[in-house]
Amino acid sequence: MRTPLIAGNWKMNKTVEQARALVAEMLPGLQTVSAVERVLCPPFTALMPISAMLVGTEIGLGAQNMHWEAQGAFTGEVSPAMIKEFCQYVIIGHSERRTYFGETDQTVNKKVHAALSNQLIPIVCVGETLEENEAGRTAEVVARQVCDGLKDVPKDQATKLVIAYEPVWAIGTGRAASGEVANRVLAEIIRPALAGLFDTPTAQQIRILYGGSVTAGNAQEFFGQPEIDGALVGGASLKAAEFVNIVAAAAK
Ligand code: PGA
Repeated sequence: MRTPLIAGNWKMNKTVEQARALVAEMLPGLQTVSAVERVLCPPFTALMPISAMLVGTEIGLGAQNMHWEAQGAFTGEVSPAMIKEFCQYVIIGHSERRTYFGETDQTVNKKVHAALSNQLIPIVCVGETLEENEAGRTAEVVARQVCDGLKDVPKDQATKLVIAYEPVWAIGTGRAASGEVANRVLAEIIRPALAGLFDTPTAQQIRILYGGSVTAGNAQEFFGQPEIDGALVGGASLKAAEFVNIVAAAAK
């Protein structure tokens, strides 16, 4: 059995004061749903104050990005050890990082290795663009992102991985994939790719999330699918009641 996981990706939103207010508002509701692994991913500047608010709760904290090097002359970057001071998770290779900041499957791979060797759980994002989707290239693109992004991950570390399938055309557009279509990508592309990298029993233990315009209104459609183990939620994670309702839907 794979434990459902819901992660809120706040992206570049919320000052420390705003972040504290949002967490204070959602924390009571989040704490009532213990059957679901719950993770908040605020911006870097809010990690320290939010980690203090989460002490004594079972709510996890994640960063939205990370550099792979341990330290050094990398102006503007944040190292795995710096993230590890406050977080248990890190989002890697989000499509906005790939599109706007030049991340590739190769940089994703370096970050995945750095996360695992620093005992951080990587939430690795994959997904095709609209153009790739319309050209019938979804399987090729997503399989490549999985295989190259996870290259040389040792099998005994693989079950710590979390994959998020986020079709780029569904992110922030209000145009979510259907539960059935997303489930098919997981069943026919992602889990077989994981089985090829590791083995079938290992692939069966790796959690795969869906992301892209998930709301409290459509969450159940995704969580009712056999392959979908939760969600990476963007816009709806900035609304306390809505995010709590998504988490509650994953517990059913
Ligand atoms: P969205 O973002 O829920 O706002 O579509 C999801 C994501 O980018 O992780």
